[in-house]
Amino acid sequence: MNKNIIAIDGPAGVGKGTLTRALAKHYDFAVLDTGSLYRAATFNLIEKGYDMENIDSAIALEETKKISDNHKILEYAKRDEIRLPLTTKYVYVVADNPPLREVLKVYQTEFGLNPPGGKRGAIIEGRDIGTVIFPGAPVKIFLTASSEVRARRRFYEYEAAGKPANYDEILAEMVKRDARDTHRAVGGLIAADDAVIIDTSEMSIERVIETACKLIDSRLKL
Ligand code: C5P
Repeated sequence: MNKNIIAIDGPAGVGKGTLTRALAKHYDFAVLDTGSLYRAATFNLIEKGYDMENIDSAIALEETKKISDNHKILEYAKRDEIRLPLTTKYVYVVADNPPLREVLKVYQTEFGLNPPGGKRGAIIEGRDIGTVIFPGAPVKIFLTASSEVRARRRFYEYEAAGKPANYDEILAEMVKRDARDTHRAVGGLIAADDAVIIDTSEMSIERVIETACKLIDSRLKL
């Protein structure tokens, strides 16, 4: 059973994805973006035509159990629609539902303990990996940065991809999602007591990667 687990938590736009990809390449570990599971479950409900403003939590749970049991959730997780603003808007319907979080937890635990492709370790990124999913992970990194810095990064990402973007809207959406993610009763965004906190506001990505590698090299026997 795999013990090389790197938990990376932090708010939206903080650079978790960039750091995770760099570390996965460096250590040849498997990567799980747990936000994609929450997004996949959300998009499934939207696609099925539910009124997301008024959906019953028991129905959301049942529908997610179905796509989880038949593993269709992994197909949904690869679809572009999970990144649409509409999916982002309603992801709270899934994230605020504690029994539903338990359903998604099964995937995350299995991935960490048995990384696909026979990889020698797993990097799992999200909001509650170091606190709820793998509280015993030997490496826990909590990334943080001001909301303005994160919104600016997102804005440039959109621009680079040729997508129309409005900085003020991105910032407002981010602040709103941060508040929801932070105040969630179960699985909220909070650094584990033993997490190493890296504030990336004033750091280059190279420096963030270097800091993370030093920590990982000191904690894992590879
Ligand atoms: O990481 P990403 O921004 O794609 O996550 C989308 C949303 O899914 C988050 O804003 C959060 O509400 C939820 N989420 C969560 N727990 C995780 C990962 C994501 O509640 N481990």
